Amino acid sequence: MRVSGKERIVAQELQHYMPVFSRQPLVIERGTGAIVTDTDGNDYIDCVAGIAVNSVGHCHPRVVNAIKAQAEKLIHTSNLYYTEIQARLAERMTKLTGMERLYLTNSGAESNESAMKLARKVTGKKGFISTKNAFHGRTMGSLSVTWKEAIRQPFEPLIDGVTFVDYGDVNAIAGAVTADTAAVIVEPIQGEGGVNVPPDDYLAAVRELCTEREIILIVDEVQTGFARTGKWFACEHANVIPDVMTLAKGMGGGFPVGAMMSRESFQFAPGDHGGTQSGNPLACAAALATIDVIESEHLVEQSRSKGELLKKLLSGIESPYTVDVRGKGLMVAYESSRSVVPVVDFARKSGVLLNNTSENVLRFVPPLVIAKEQIETAIAVVERAINVHPR
Ligand SMILES: Cc1ncc(COP(=O)(O)O)c(C=O)c1O
Repeated sequence: MRVSGKERIVAQELQHYMPVFSRQPLVIERGTGAIVTDTDGNDYIDCVAGIAVNSVGHCHPRVVNAIKAQAEKLIHTSNLYYTEIQARLAERMTKLTGMERLYLTNSGAESNESAMKLARKVTGKKGFISTKNAFHGRTMGSLSVTWKEAIRQPFEPLIDGVTFVDYGDVNAIAGAVTADTAAVIVEPIQGEGGVNVPPDDYLAAVRELCTEREIILIVDEVQTGFARTGKWFACEHANVIPDVMTLAKGMGGGFPVGAMMSRESFQFAPGDHGGTQSGNPLACAAALATIDVIESEHLVEQSRSKGELLKKLLSGIESPYTVDVRGKGLMVAYESSRSVVPVVDFARKSGVLLNNTSENVLRFVPPLVIAKEQIETAIAVVERAINVHPR
């Protein structure tokens, strides 16, 4: 049965799809750059970017062409064989990150799952130290190091030996280390937790502690990687090279692909780990094209300058409530002592897509290619929304 029209599509989905997502009443049909269009032909400035995924914009022609060209050659072949495109991506990614080994995944959770297994394998230890308000994914391992009780509790028992400490406090990590600690896992800026930026010296201090105590440092760059924060990878703000770095989201320009990268001394042996569809050729082609776009369109620099504009505009909005604007590059939060939920609804109805990580925090992670005028238009709508809903 062909389904067309918003109501019919929503009804079809509600009847057949598992109800895990609380979706907004919007059916998106297409996208280009920082604009998405719904089935009624309405355009929206997208300040969500598929939750920090469409960093090079929707359907970037270079990504589209790379996927098309690869699809005509080879879509899948398994990891029983080599492919040129996977080898090329491995070399490119190691040069880009300063890490020495790449393992490809299909999502952020899978990247963290891989990292946790690697940490246990190379250390022979079981324990993990994670941080309060951390989000690392929803598979059993990655969920075990994710903070939010409501999404963890129904699936317990999760893996043993996880300790959560205050984010931004290296002494809290030091105090939690035991003889059985395999790894510390930490986001350079917490994303789902509400764009929480730690003190400037935090990550370097965590690096030092992990080296001293011979603990693996896993830096989760799933959300912050690929120019999102105004550097290729957010740990560059602190000049830190982790032992293991996990990636996904912005890596494939919208195509599902992720990675776990490690130092030469921390590796799996053959048979330790794997995945049938890991390193899919289409995913590799999309990732290589995305890296090319970030480089050739100077999106690292653009993320920085547009992020400054975004923060300036948000800070200029008058509000009778207590407000905090924070973030790096184009990963920015607007926190208000009053609920921001009506702002999200108002903005959508006015042609701007926003996302809130909680009742009080709006998170802005637009495509890095968003134009400055589009940022100005979007923030003018946010300002109107705040004025329309003063209480
Ligand atoms: C920092 C971080 N790690 C891991 C994940 C999980 O990624 P995925 O949803 O691709 O499994 C997310 C998703 O929001 C994330 O923000």
